[in-house]
Parts: sequence; C-alpha cells; structure tokens
Amino acid sequence: MHLFLEFNCVVILVVLLDLGFTAVINSDDEELPCPGSCLCEEEDTLFCNSIELQKVPGYWPNHYRKVVLRNVSLTTLHKASFKRFKALEELRIEECFQLDMIDKYAFKGLHKLRILAITRNPKLTQIYKATFSGIGNENSLKIFINNNALTHVQPYSFKNVQNIRELTIEDECVSFGKNSLSSILKLDFAVLRGVCHLAAETFSNTTRVHNLHISDSNFDLVTRAFAGLTHVNHILLQNNRINTIHEDAFGGSSTIGNLQIQTNKIIHLEPRAFAATENLGSVVFMQNTITQALRSPECIYNEAQKFVFSDNTLKCDCALKWARHHSDRTFLKENFCGREEAFKALIYYEPQGCPTEPPPIEEPSTRFFMTEEPPLLSTDAGNNFNYLSKHTSSTASSRCSLINWQLPIVCVLLRSHFTQYL
Ligand SMILES: *[C@@H]1O[C@H](CO)[C@@H](O)[C@H](O)[C@H]1NC(C)=O
Ligand SMILES: *[C@@H]1O[C@H](CO)[C@@H](O)[C@H](O)[C@H]1NC(C)=O
Repeated sequence: MHLFLEFNCVVILVVLLDLGFTAVINSDDEELPCPGSCLCEEEDTLFCNSIELQKVPGYWPNHYRKVVLRNVSLTTLHKASFKRFKALEELRIEECFQLDMIDKYAFKGLHKLRILAITRNPKLTQIYKATFSGIGNENSLKIFINNNALTHVQPYSFKNVQNIRELTIEDECVSFGKNSLSSILKLDFAVLRGVCHLAAETFSNTTRVHNLHISDSNFDLVTRAFAGLTHVNHILLQNNRINTIHEDAFGGSSTIGNLQIQTNKIIHLEPRAFAATENLGSVVFMQNTITQALRSPECIYNEAQKFVFSDNTLKCDCALKWARHHSDRTFLKENFCGREEAFKALIYYEPQGCPTEPPPIEEPSTRFFMTEEPPLLSTDAGNNFNYLSKHTSSTASSRCSLINWQLPIVCVLLRSHFTQYL
C-alpha cells in the first residue's frame, strides 16, 4: 500500500515534469504554473528565452497579457497559434533564429491585441497572403516588422486588417508586391524603410491613412504605385534614392491631402509624373536633387490644388532649354542648377553650345488646362480630411501658373489688353 502511494506520487511528479511546469508563487500564495523554462515574473507576462519549442503548446496557460518568445527554436508559426490567448495584448516574436514561415491567419482571434512585434528573426524572408488577417483587434493595434531578413511582402498580407495605429516595416531591401498593403481600413501611421521595390497598386483598396512615410529606401516610383489608395492625410517620401518617378506615379489615387517629396536623390523625373490623381490637395516637392535634366514643362504638370516646387537642385544642360521660355518665374527663381552651373538659380542659366535652337515651346499648352474645374474635395471622409478645404494660397497660385486653371483666361485677357497698344 505504502509502496503504491509512493509510486503514484512519482508518476504524478514525472507527469508534471513532463508537461514542463515549474511553479511560481504569487502574492496570494496561489500557485500559477509557468510553462517550459520560461519566466513569469509578473503573473500576466510570459517570457520564453532560448528554449526549444516547435510550436506553441496547447497546454500552456492562456491568461497572459504579454508573451515574448525570444530565441526559441520555432521554425513555423502556425495558423491561429495564439487563438487560446484571449487576453493577449502584446506579442513579441524576436530573434528566433530558425523561424522562416508565418502561416496565414497566424494571429487570428487576438481580439485584445495592441502590440505585435516581429523583430530580428534572421531567416524570415517572406510575409505571405493573409498572415495578418483575422486578428479582429478591438483596439487600435501597432504592428512592428523590423530588422528581420525580409525581402518580399506578398499580395494581401494585410487583407481586411482594420484599425491599425502604426504599421512599421523596416529592413535592408524589401520588395512590396502588387496589393501587398492592400485592403487595410484605417491605418494611422504607416512607416516603410528599406523599400527596394514598390509595385503598381501596392496599396489598392487601402483607405483612411493618416500618414504614409517612406524613407531610407532605394526604389523606382512606378506608374500607379499608389493607385487604389484613398483618403490619405499625408504622404511623405523623404531621404530616398529614387531612380525614376514615372509618368502617373501617383495616378489612380484619390483624396490625398498632402504629398510631400523632400530631400530625395532622384535620377529621373518623367513628364506627367504627378498626373492622373483625383482630389489631390497639395504637393510639396522640395530640396530634392534630380540628376537628369527635366525634359519638358510637363515634368511639373499636376492637378493639385497647391503645388510647391522649390529649392531643388536640377541638372542644367541643353535638355532644360525649355525653361528659358517658361512663364513661371517662381519656378525659375527658386530652383537651382547643380555643380555644373555653380548652383545658380535656373533663371540665370544660359544653355551654351546646344544643338540648334528649338522653336519656343508653346506653353502653357492646352492639355495643361483640361481639368476645367479645380478638384472638389469631399468632406465625407471623417474629420481627418476636413483640412482639405479649398484654400489655394495666393503664393501658390502665382507659383504654379502651369497648373492654375484660371490662367488661360487671364492670359487671353492680357493678350487682348496688350494688342490694343501694339
Ligand atoms: C539561443 O538559444 C540557444 C539554445 O536554444 C543558445 O545556445 C544560444 O546561445 C542562444 N542565443 C542567444 C543569442 O541567446
Ligand atoms: C477592392 O474592393 C472592391 C470592392 O470591395 C473589390 O471589388 C475589388 O476586387 C477590390 N480590389 C482589390 C485589388 O482588392
């Protein structure tokens, strides 16, 4: 009998050890299990560091509000891995040296989640379709995907994700496929660093973005890169190396409050790069260096309500001859040649030794004025977009003669006025 009891105890002990439970004593002297070789310094925090783990075990307690898996030997994060963790507010997957796959719907059902950080996992190269779908967060959620080995974000990785406070994706060289950041509803701050490819329609059907910031990247702004993106307060492209800003790079987007392109190194700005947008508030293009000459006035053609193009360093060579006949003196005064012309303002640039003088470009050409009406900005998009009221500042209208729809009328009036005296 005695022997039998002892045997029973051993069995229980072995079973307990097998399940990998160690005990922590909380203040109420009530024992809460802490799984594996993890730490549970606070009752609602699970911190697992440098342990063997192939999957998140189904027997782990699930009351935690914060879970950190650091340097665990996971290779795959399976679908709905954390679904039992109904109270989880913060999840960090860090330095998992073998993690190379996160299944679709991996974070499904984490309704209380506020912070999701996936950082420094050196084998994580791809984010696949629907990885972040199905979270169903009730609160505003921050997602950080930083310093992994990410090279590709596949289409619809964030499909139907809603109410994101911040989404940061940062790595050495990330290629964003078509629709990769598509169908996100309400994204306050999107921060992308280390972009090396941004496909057309990367953001299709994504709406209500407060700030979209792309910096420290090296990529091409392809035609329709932002197509399908609607209701954005501010897009900022800063400190990037951009090979070419292609025709209609911002085409197909709608209701962008402010597009700011600042301190980038750009090789080529194509004609009509800012064309084909709908309801574009202001464009501020400042302090950029463009290494190939702008070929025609259409390079600064746009449909924005306000267009500021100043303090840029432009290549001055024969291709820029059109600028001598350009009517927008502000453009000529506030932008500068490069070193080749000792950084003089464009207005002082005199092309030398160029092949035969082309006939003066007839400008402003009529196609500049095809938009008879300045775009009307909707106010139905919530308070974020109220600033889009139609105030075009006076400096802007003098600055942007090319885009001012009223100018032809003024020009015609002036012309008839002067002919009277000729
Ligand atoms: C990661 O965990 C392994 C054991 O699984 C350990 O040998 C290694 O030293 C740990 N690395 C770091 C950086 O903590
Ligand atoms: C965008 O949303 C519309 C309407 O919900 C849908 O028909 C269309 O397929 C979506 N497009 C993409 C690229 O997801």
